[in-house]
Amino acid sequence: MKPAVIAMPSNEQLADDLAARLPLERIAATVRRFPDGESHVRVEAPAEARNALIVCTLDRPDDKLVPLFLLAAAVREAGAHSVGLVAPYLAYMRQDRRFNPGETISAQHVAAWISRAFDWLVTVDPHLHRISNLSQVYSIPSSVVHASYSVAEWVRAHVRNPLLIGPDEESAQWVSEVAKDADAPFVVLTKARRGDREVEVSVPEIERWRLHTPVLMDDIVSTARTMIATVGHLRRAGLAAPVCVAVHAVFAQTAFEDLRAAGAGDIVSCDTIRHPSNRISLAPGIAAVVRTQLLDAAKQDRRFELRDITA
Ligand code: R5P
Repeated sequence: MKPAVIAMPSNEQLADDLAARLPLERIAATVRRFPDGESHVRVEAPAEARNALIVCTLDRPDDKLVPLFLLAAAVREAGAHSVGLVAPYLAYMRQDRRFNPGETISAQHVAAWISRAFDWLVTVDPHLHRISNLSQVYSIPSSVVHASYSVAEWVRAHVRNPLLIGPDEESAQWVSEVAKDADAPFVVLTKARRGDREVEVSVPEIERWRLHTPVLMDDIVSTARTMIATVGHLRRAGLAAPVCVAVHAVFAQTAFEDLRAAGAGDIVSCDTIRHPSNRISLAPGIAAVVRTQLLDAAKQDRRFELRDITA
């Protein structure tokens, strides 16, 4: 029997795409709120004797996590052998340290809750900084899809004479990869964040790149203060309006408009979070990794037919 794929609300496109690329059967689920604000979930078909996966990107996570956990439980109770999670954006990874006394390391707690509810996890470029590997906080098997090759392809096809720019030290890991695949030079800036919305960046001798098109790249754009500070720095140094590329287009409140108003050129993102800036599709890469994850689940579960996902 084919594995089942279930979409949380607003994740139907990726669920359909995965069902089309892999032999998965789409199963409907209802997720709604009771008048008192509590969640009600229902799986609309039996999931007996099959492996299942739920697609739910986790931006704005606080509203999504309770119904997601309930849905995972409902799918299991409907008979699924295993339940995986495909979360193209993985929330809470930036809260990876106790920054002030009295705080908690949220990344660890959210990872523990997800690990309890699911059997495996597939995500796209999680924010790995002080946590260097998902297995440090997730106790279930996890696989990561990297956006760098798809971003590099987009840059190669759309930007003349690009210079890749990373706004901070963490970004060096993915900016260097994109630069290599796009056959372009790159620089990494130094960032100081003084608050949620207060960011300063600097880079020595940026002026020497004036003949290039700057391509500013970050994994997450949330308030966009990091990008806005960088755009200002580049414009003052006489560089052209930069193309801004986000893997995860969180864009909190007015961040997208603020970035535009700050002098960004084109603003482009991968489709891990639905947003008008989405221009780079990661569905093929996600499907490839999900296939491997399902094969692993199948190997551990002899009742499940390997040919259902290798066909
Ligand atoms: C942080 O280290 C990340 O890589 C991003 O630079 C950060 O999340 C961007 O946040 P914001 O858009 O709020 O400046």
